[in-house]
Formats: sequence, structure tokens, C-alpha cells
Amino acid sequence: MPTKNIQAVPAESVNIALAAQLLQQGRLVAFPTETVYGLGADASNPEAVARIFKAKGRPADHPLIVHIAELAQLSVWARDIPAAAYKLAERFWPGPLAMVLQKQVDVSLAVTGGQETVGIRMPQHPVALALLRAFNGGVAAPSANRFCRISPTAASHVVDELGDAVDLILDGGACQVGVESTIIDLSSPEPRLLRPGHISVAALEAVLGTTVQLPPFTEQAEQQAIRAPGMLALHYAPTTPALLCPPADLSTTLMNFKAQGKRCAVLHYSHYAELSQWQGIQLTAAADSYAQGLYGALRSLDNLHLDVIVIEQPPSTMEWLAVNDRLAKATG
Ligand code: TXA
Ligand code: MG
Repeated sequence: MPTKNIQAVPAESVNIALAAQLLQQGRLVAFPTETVYGLGADASNPEAVARIFKAKGRPADHPLIVHIAELAQLSVWARDIPAAAYKLAERFWPGPLAMVLQKQVDVSLAVTGGQETVGIRMPQHPVALALLRAFNGGVAAPSANRFCRISPTAASHVVDELGDAVDLILDGGACQVGVESTIIDLSSPEPRLLRPGHISVAALEAVLGTTVQLPPFTEQAEQQAIRAPGMLALHYAPTTPALLCPPADLSTTLMNFKAQGKRCAVLHYSHYAELSQWQGIQLTAAADSYAQGLYGALRSLDNLHLDVIVIEQPPSTMEWLAVNDRLAKATG
């Protein structure tokens, strides 16, 4: 466990200026985005980027997303940028969309996990944008959690995850979206969804005027996709075993665990009077606000250190794609 002498500081302009200075010195700064908190480092400084991997305990072949504040910076990081990328940027940036493009020649392989492509996003959170503008460059930033753990959606989560491995934590309150950005791969002619998020496939297709391929991809594409840690089977996971359960079986499943002497928590969105006897959290039955509360809820239930977390399975509609993806990963 990391030592935790660090305290998050309010995201006021003096602290944003200090954060930008630390980035320039090759240090690590955690900052809020609209999706989740990011662990930022100067993307043009391989030593700074190496610190991210060390702090997270993340394998070096897992690529990072470069965050930028101006569209003009896109060509600093990517080359052979297709028209589709500009269309999506115009509609969705700043916002919770990351694009995978051919990397610009001088972009460090430390950032791209050794690949010839690079992930880029322009976040929408005012603190993230202010920090990027003050720093005046690209900031590599994965979610500010240890490898394979739940992403942080509040500054206190970052303290719990990384503690003193971070040089500064900017507290910008709770994240509005709550799950990581949608990732679309535009590095080959057929656009592919690498990670579902708040920006839906339908919204992407409407702008692109073409279909976006969904996983699972062909074998060769899978080989590439494995590099995206978001694609690992067990990711974003609590340490307490968690399982998904259809709404109709929720009560019986909980009763069965209790009969086996197991202490359960329940994460649900339907209201059933009989659930009140269990420790649990009810999220809303609307996909977007459920997503906003999801990681905080999983983290709280995990911190109870019970034997199992039973999660009510959401509907399998496109609206719930991002949530179902994260729940599948939280439950292995
Ligand atoms: O919402 C977000 O995107 C957050 C905030 C902080 O911006 N960041 C984030 O970063 O979720 P991270 O590192 O936790 O997840 C980034 C995902 C990973 O699955 C990574 O493999 C994928 O993006 N990725 C980045 N570059 C890639 C590339 N060149 N090819 C394929 N996948 C890539
Ligand atoms: Mg992550």
C-alpha cells in the first residue's frame, strides 16, 4: 500500500499553475477530467512517462492517452489524420472521446506502449483544460488508479489508490461522466470501437456516416486490442469477489449466500422492498446517471470487506453498453 501523506489541493488557479510547473519538471500530477481522474505526466518526456507506469504498476506495453487542449496540437502527436478524425473532433471535442491514430514520428514509444499508433483526447473538464493550457503541451494520462483497479471518480479515490506516488493531486470534485472515455480506432480504414463510453456508437456513426465495428474483432485485430488494458478480461475490479445477477434472481441469490454464511453487499438499480435487509447501494435506473455513480459505489462496497458483492444485471441495450462493459470487467 502507498504511504498517504499527500492531500488533494483545491483546483484553484495558483495550484493549477503549480501543477503545470511540476509537469514541466517531469513530475506526476493527478487532475480531474469529466470521465475519471487522470494521472498526468509530460507526454514528450520519456522519464516522466516512465513514472506513470511505476506509480500505477502498469506493464510498459499498455499505451497511454495523450491529452491536448487545442485541435492544432493534434498533428503534433498524430500523422496521416483522416477526415473522420476532424469530423469527430469538431462534434465531440472537448469531451469524453479518445481517438487512436497513426503516431507522429517523434512520439515516444514509451507513450504508445511500443505501438505505431497513439491515443489522443481533448477533455472537457475546465480544470483539465486550464492545466493543459498552462502546461502548453500534451499530457499523457491514464486513469489515476493502480493497475487493474477501479478508476477514481473523486480526488479522495486518487489519494487511496496512489498516495505519495503522485506529486500533486488537484481536487475538482466528482466526475460527471463517471466511466472512461469512448475510444474509437481510426488508424485503419474501418473505424472500430475499442472501449464503449458516454459517447454512443450511434452518435459516432451519425457523424461519420459509416458503421463502427464493435468487438469482438477478427483474430489479428484482437491481437492488437489486447494491448488496450481496457480489453483485459479482469479490469476495473474490486478486490471483493463480485458477480452479476439477473434482477429476478437477486433476492434468492442473496439468501443463498447468506445460508452459506457469506456476508453480501448488493448493488442494484431496481427498487425491491426486500433488498433493504442487505448492505447495499441503489443507483438510478438511467444508464448515464448509473455510470456516474458506478465506480464510487463499487469502491464503497469493496471497502466494506465483505465476502461477495452481488450486482443487479442492467438491461442489455446499447444505452447500457459502457456500464455493462465495466461490470463485465469488474466481475471477471
Ligand atoms: O477517460 C479517459 O480516457 C481517462 C481520462 C483520464 O482521460 N483515461 C484513461 O486512460 O482511461 P487509461 O490509460 O486508463 O485507458 C486508456 C485506454 C487503454 O485501454 C489503452 O490501452 C487505450 O486507451 N489506448 C491508448 N492508446 C492506444 C493505442 N495506441 N492503441 C490502442 N489502445 C490504446
Ligand atoms: Mg485505466
